[in-house]
Amino acid sequence: MCGIVGYAGKRRVVPVLLEGLKKLEYRGYDSAGIVYLKDDELVTHRCEGKLSRLEASVEEVFGVQAHCGLGHTRWATHGAPTEQNAHPHTDCSGRLVVVHNGIIENYHSLREELKELGHTFTSETDTEVLAHLIEENLDTDLAQAVRRSLQRVEGSYALGVMSADFPGTLIAARSHSPLVMGIDDQGSSYLASDIPALLPYTNKVVFLEDEEMAILSDGAWQVCSLTTGDSLEKEISIIDWNAAMAEKAGYKHFMLKEIFEQPQAITNTVSGRINLETGEIVLPEINLTIKDFAAIDRIFLVACGTSWHAALVAKYWLEKYAKIPVEVDIASEFRYRNLLIDEKVLTISISQSGETADTLAGIRRAAQLGSKVITICNVVGSTMTREADGTLYTHAGPEIGVASTKAFISQLAALFLFTLYLSQVRKSIDAEQRRELGQHLIESAQTIEQILPRIQAEIRVLIDSFYDCRDFLFIGRGVNFPIALEGALKLKEISYIHAEGYAAGELKHGPIALIDKDMPVLAITPQDSVYQKSISNVEEIKARQGRIILLGSEGDEHLKSITDHIIYLPLVHEDINPIIYTIPAQLLSYEIAARRGCDVDQPRNLAKSVTVE
Ligand code: M6R
Repeated sequence: MCGIVGYAGKRRVVPVLLEGLKKLEYRGYDSAGIVYLKDDELVTHRCEGKLSRLEASVEEVFGVQAHCGLGHTRWATHGAPTEQNAHPHTDCSGRLVVVHNGIIENYHSLREELKELGHTFTSETDTEVLAHLIEENLDTDLAQAVRRSLQRVEGSYALGVMSADFPGTLIAARSHSPLVMGIDDQGSSYLASDIPALLPYTNKVVFLEDEEMAILSDGAWQVCSLTTGDSLEKEISIIDWNAAMAEKAGYKHFMLKEIFEQPQAITNTVSGRINLETGEIVLPEINLTIKDFAAIDRIFLVACGTSWHAALVAKYWLEKYAKIPVEVDIASEFRYRNLLIDEKVLTISISQSGETADTLAGIRRAAQLGSKVITICNVVGSTMTREADGTLYTHAGPEIGVASTKAFISQLAALFLFTLYLSQVRKSIDAEQRRELGQHLIESAQTIEQILPRIQAEIRVLIDSFYDCRDFLFIGRGVNFPIALEGALKLKEISYIHAEGYAAGELKHGPIALIDKDMPVLAITPQDSVYQKSISNVEEIKARQGRIILLGSEGDEHLKSITDHIIYLPLVHEDINPIIYTIPAQLLSYEIAARRGCDVDQPRNLAKSVTVE
């Protein structure tokens, strides 16, 4: 939800800001803007639409001798996605600007108050009140003016402020929206909503916490408390991602690149965590003792979107192997429902970004009620990882495509690993079974590596008859039911085809009424313990003239009597099937969306990191 960049140093600022915004465009792409200081004046450029439009409009100032500035890419909350509402927003004098990510909840009353004091507003945004509020509080110290102003503000913000009267200085502040500083050895300071924007320049970062403010200038930085104004000691973290990891590397889209990176993502997630001689699972960052685990009698899994689907799969695994009751909640429901949670509950959040507002609020509530919290997360140093008692990193590398793919696969790998770990702690399965299951998990990377090119080629042919459909159903049973949900979500978010996922056995309770020749159904039918049941459901669809695509096990000749559209997948352990069967579902969505000419990496109305409610 909106991306912020800032720079103060010796480099020419415009290319640094644009490069940073490109890396953050996945956070929002309704409009974009930059501002820099030149000859004692603030120069602002703003454009409606994608960053490429802004880039074209600033071509002539690319090499301008300016060394301090801010940039913003917007996902609209308050006010339409127009140029007028694009950031940066200025005060009445035009000498002070603000870029902001988050929502100022009391903006309406502040706006009325500031109008009475004579301020003139030019946009419909909540952000603009910040510029006028700081102007109202400004005397000789910009940082103090920002601090005093923020004491009046309710809501969430990550913000960057600069003023022509304080050349070379940026002020940053955060409350409930992510913000990270970068520092290099050449005396430059950077500001960004997310790490990929910093990677071309530095891997040394300082994470700002809630209620903290930073003052950045050419070669220096300082962090202080927003509440007291006191200076704070901050740790410099070294990030082991590099800039190349956030590039397309010859693929047409980030999503396709990330689908093909999945074998590596699984390997990175499991590597060093399974001892294949003893069956021991080693997860030191979980940070909970045997005694902590002994006190737990239930698990709540909390997540949104694709991460929620990973949680749904994990429920089957945890209940089967760790033999513990598991509840799975959509975070936006969890945070407001009447939770029966106490210290006997372990809450696990699952999140690629570690910044999703609802998931974060959910784990905060669970912790208040006495639950221990673990987060399964991809982004090192993200807010969830800093607030949880323990962390299990997925190590998928930066995921740029808005549609989550490799993050999902590595979440599944991490959750399977966690299941084995908990089974070890609770002694619910023996070491040999753990070793065997661990081996199956490790081998899934190689299996995917082998099948990816073939599956992509087969899907390219298959979609000739399906890419122009208006609707689609995805069905699956047991541990593959959540993969049906995930397949449907992928298709709708990137191709705008209406798609629904169902538990196959639920079809006859209503959705089967939809079946006709215009409603294709993708059915997941591996030869597993519910195979016969799944086939019966597919036969019911066939009897009603439904058009069927089957994902099934290699060698299953019976499938050919049902449909001509079959993608065969290798026979693996049945609990590894969700990892394998996700691949054709992702590729089907990708190829259909690409064929329809959709903007695969930046689908309309979406943003990668949902940091507002
Ligand atoms: O960063 P998170 O995993 O917490 O994000 C959760 C969802 O917003 C995310 O999975 C979303 O559903 C994706 N666009 C799905 O592809």
